[in-house]
Amino acid sequence: MRIIRAKDYCEMSRRAAEIIASEVILKPDCVLGLATGSSPVGTYDELVKMYKDGALDFSGVRTVNLDEYCGLDITSDQSYVWFMHHHLFDRVNIRPENTHFPDGKQADAQKACAEYDAVMEKTGRTDLQLLGLGPDGHIGFNEPEDFFPAGTHKVALTDSTIQANKRFFSSEEEVPRFAYTMGVAGIMKARRVLMVVSGKSKAGILKEALCGPVVPQVPASVLQLHPDFVLVADEEALSEM
Ligand code: GLP
Repeated sequence: MRIIRAKDYCEMSRRAAEIIASEVILKPDCVLGLATGSSPVGTYDELVKMYKDGALDFSGVRTVNLDEYCGLDITSDQSYVWFMHHHLFDRVNIRPENTHFPDGKQADAQKACAEYDAVMEKTGRTDLQLLGLGPDGHIGFNEPEDFFPAGTHKVALTDSTIQANKRFFSSEEEVPRFAYTMGVAGIMKARRVLMVVSGKSKAGILKEALCGPVVPQVPASVLQLHPDFVLVADEEALSEM
């Protein structure tokens, strides 16, 4: 595990973007595993800046996103498809056909999950997986469980996740209760995993995830076992380590 200590959110975003940028420069057809949430927004802004400065070309890059809410249409501005278009895809020269998400509108969970596992298989091994950290230790939408789910699966969001994510919706009732998420094996198979964590509110769970035992009740703790795991976190997030 490598820990990069950043002064604040801005520096965290810059350092994380530099790591992703070097991946894109060294391997123009790389597969990036991408994440949503507020933590990676600054990282995407930095990548867009580098693209506009002519340093990056996304035309060969392929992406697989971690997760999607069940039931939301991709045109809904709360869907993760919309999020990625708004924060990154519509601002760089990535080809839309090279970007992939679980199909939140597919009501047949078995079909949706099998299809996404097949998409990931076809896209090939993820070169770099970007992650945020949920307040209950979730990665993607892999919520605390009694085991580490391997493949793409349907999850019931925990109350802590619903509470944390309701800020993106006009009311708590509107937050979808279910999501499809890449499994822990999908994340761990990536050649490199990069996690961005910011703010005092994440300090406790970050310490638990990285210094506590590896247990499925703290899904992010599995990252301790990844051979190339990089954490970029700001001072507030690292304040309990
Ligand atoms: C959501 C996403 C996660 C993300 C988490 C943390 O639940 N599914 O992938 O890591 O939010 O979000 P934030 O970065 O806003 O704290």
